[in-house]
Amino acid sequence: MKLPDQLQFIANAYAKQKRTGASLAGKVCVITGTTSGVGYAVAKYFSKDMAKIVMVCRDKERGEKVKSELYGLSGIEPDMILADFRSLEEVRRAAGEILAICPRIDILINNAGVFSTRLILNEVGVDTVLAVNHLASFLMTRLLIPRMAESAHARILQVNSEGHRFSKFIYDDIQWKHHRYSGYRSCGSSKTAQLLTVWKLDQLLSGTGITINAMHPGAVKSNIGHSNGLLYTFFSRVIITPFLKDPTISAQALHYLAAAPELETVSGYYYNLTTEEQPAQHASLGSSLIEEAWKISSRLVGLPEDQD
Ligand SMILES: NC(=O)c1ccc[n+]([C@@H]2O[C@H](COP(=O)([O-])OP(=O)(O)OC[C@H]3O[C@@H](n4cnc5c(N)ncnc54)[C@H](OP(=O)(O)O)[C@@H]3O)[C@@H](O)[C@H]2O)c1
Repeated sequence: MKLPDQLQFIANAYAKQKRTGASLAGKVCVITGTTSGVGYAVAKYFSKDMAKIVMVCRDKERGEKVKSELYGLSGIEPDMILADFRSLEEVRRAAGEILAICPRIDILINNAGVFSTRLILNEVGVDTVLAVNHLASFLMTRLLIPRMAESAHARILQVNSEGHRFSKFIYDDIQWKHHRYSGYRSCGSSKTAQLLTVWKLDQLLSGTGITINAMHPGAVKSNIGHSNGLLYTFFSRVIITPFLKDPTISAQALHYLAAAPELETVSGYYYNLTTEEQPAQHASLGSSLIEEAWKISSRLVGLPEDQD
């Protein structure tokens, strides 16, 4: 029995995954959030495939450990850029540092993300979940696009989430003054915002040779949400985690999306791992909020609405 499009994500979690024999050897891959979970697994997987990794992380000590592990896997020295994505100033600085050291960028994987059961505003009064999950990746992407356009067939991959289905983009209340905040709603709103801007970026990137796609990395073991206090962390680690898969499946999926020759010009899609899928209606290409999301996101990160 075929499920309706909007429920297909349930079946897609069990779909056979695609793989590619194509290699990322010699490709420069910028990956955010490499110290844990999905990002850590991807950085190792891509290193084994001899990619040059540019790690973006916030903890120097843990970053150094990952960096030497990656070097041990490939013999290729990774670069490490430090930034806390709650601050957009730090994202901007990190992008500047990446541009200074990378004459070429072939792959950008915006992976860093959070889940917070409490509303925490950053120094400029923006919900940190929106800042980390969406605005940081939006700003990073827009600042790196001009350099990526210089590479033949560069690819941008947004690590999104089936969690986007939890909420439409609450664009008119980013401090949650008039809406009830919950971890699922803020996660859903931020991931929906990201998807809406992916569809707009896809239009703007037409003819540049850069593709942009979003993906759900599977339900996998990681540290997400583990800073939410004892009760949540206990529930997550003890009750939920045993049912989750190893993040290697996320790494394999991202490898396929980053390397498969048949995807070289494929852009503007949402994948559940490697299966193309319809996002929720409120986050789809048909949403009336795409322009609104683009304008608000541009304003919040301090960029013009035009992309050079
Ligand atoms: N795990 C799943 O089942 C699942 C499902 C759907 C979507 N996702 C998505 O997958 C992505 C990775 O999540 P994960 O599950 O691998 O979680 P994770 O283990 O907590 O990893 C998240 C990564 O993001 C980094 N990060 C968090 N806050 C940051 C900040 N303020 N500044 C810079 N970096 C920051 C973390 O750094 P630290 O190590 O320093 O904390 C870590 O490296 C997220 O976008 C998440 O929404 C995951």
